[in-house]
Amino acid sequence: MATQNGNRVLIFDTTLRDGEQSPGASLTSTEKLEIARQLARLGVDVIEAGFPAASPDDLEAVRRIAGEIGTEEGPIIAGLARAHPRDIDKVWEAVQPAARPRIHTFIATSDLHLEHKLRMSRPEVVDRTRKMVAHARSYCSDIEFSCEDAGRSDPAFLVEVCSHAIEAGATTINVPDTVGYTSPEEYFALISRLRAETPGADNVIWSTHCHDDLGMATANSLAGIRAGARQVEVTVNGIGERAGNTSLEEVVMALKTRHRYFGMETGIDTTQIIRSSRMVASFTGISVPPNKAVVGSNAFAHEAGIHQDGILKHQSTYEIMTPATVGLDQSKLVLGKHSGRHAFRVRLEQLGFELDDDAVATAFSSFKELADKKKAITDADLEALVADEFFQPEEIFKIVDLQVTCGSPGMPTATVRMIKPDDGQAIGVSVGTGPVDAVFQSIDQIIGRPTTLVEYTVHSITEGIDALGNVTVRIVDANDPGRTISGHGADVDIIVASAKAYVAAKNRMIARAGGAARVAATETNDIGAAWESLRMGGNGF
Ligand code: KIV
Ligand code: ZN
Repeated sequence: MATQNGNRVLIFDTTLRDGEQSPGASLTSTEKLEIARQLARLGVDVIEAGFPAASPDDLEAVRRIAGEIGTEEGPIIAGLARAHPRDIDKVWEAVQPAARPRIHTFIATSDLHLEHKLRMSRPEVVDRTRKMVAHARSYCSDIEFSCEDAGRSDPAFLVEVCSHAIEAGATTINVPDTVGYTSPEEYFALISRLRAETPGADNVIWSTHCHDDLGMATANSLAGIRAGARQVEVTVNGIGERAGNTSLEEVVMALKTRHRYFGMETGIDTTQIIRSSRMVASFTGISVPPNKAVVGSNAFAHEAGIHQDGILKHQSTYEIMTPATVGLDQSKLVLGKHSGRHAFRVRLEQLGFELDDDAVATAFSSFKELADKKKAITDADLEALVADEFFQPEEIFKIVDLQVTCGSPGMPTATVRMIKPDDGQAIGVSVGTGPVDAVFQSIDQIIGRPTTLVEYTVHSITEGIDALGNVTVRIVDANDPGRTISGHGADVDIIVASAKAYVAAKNRMIARAGGAARVAATETNDIGAAWESLRMGGNGF
């Protein structure tokens, strides 16, 4: 465990909690578990696995992660709770199976939040802090306390609240710049002052949690470390509320690349960074901009002739870190048409996929199909194939046939046959403005529940005419307009990839909307009837 004065910085990953609060990023519990596995491989110290009081599904996902990933050698598993006894009880219920559980509780401390959100006085906030930290401490010894909106709070009041939290048993004190408002100098001054003036400051770990609204999250987090913080809260690819959180890869690579300047260590295996980034992008549907530091597709690309010339003469002329350090494999070709099942399984294991025999058999037959169409199968292809096969939402509706005619001039027409939840089949036929539109309309005819398509992106996973196309769609449920839902699909045929992505998004929406339906359906064994009720705008029955 890091101490106040040590040079080890703990990496607290909140991709599954704050990251999942990104619009449209909702993850299935299988996806959450797979990301948690990858975070453990990456070597994070703490995984904040979710917000258990939000829903029974969230609680269950955190509980599964605590049981399966929170082993003795694995990371600490944390869950977030508002400063309410019920929230804290739920977190404890969820994180208890972990070998090293943590309860993370928070309350706002800025006058703005006290007046307009909490409608509480400062003494009331202090009192609640004491009581809730003590309540959490009655369950376990690892307690994190956060002062929400600390960046805009009165530092003197922060000192008071933090001292009470420490006295009541908090072991980590987190100082969130919740709205991404502070500058690095201000954040440095804030952490320094809190450490200097808070009674008991030396007995806890100080932590940063910075949002990126003004693009200063990484700079602020690094300033916090320089001021003595020894935990940084981050997300993979920097996803999170609004403009996102501090990105894990940026802080970790800054500490590594500028080691002489910062003098800090982390426990991260940096060669797992790219893989973690791709997995999170693929599961959340939030793609990484090409110019994103460390993990963007252009992060190691050199276009200008003068740069290319320099790189050829000596790599460090224009590269401050090597692609291999972050896990960008230089030899991309891994498998082909003649590769056998054994080589396939070994490669999947090397990539970190833990699939049972049946799953390997299914993946292998998809691999063979792909290898018939595509000569060289890369790691990125394999990752997309496995994501497409195994980390999709529950298949409530499933495409069995898809046919499209299009051209110019012409009428783009799609015919889609799907299996419905009642095991019956239905056919949709539509003419659209283009082939993708025609396919989506045909799917809508069958599924019924109205949605608006708000985003459609397609990108190729590798270079070449035979590359796999990866499609991400985002839809908004007309019955729940505040929520954006994403889906992804991969195929060498981008129309097929588009159809898969659209149906995945629809299935995810139905699974979310149909909590009641699914419960009722398990009771009556009639998911078809439950779906009909949902389709008509009901609650499942
Ligand atoms: O941004 C924030 O303030 C948070 C806290 C709940 C830790 O996410
Ligand atoms: Zn946050």
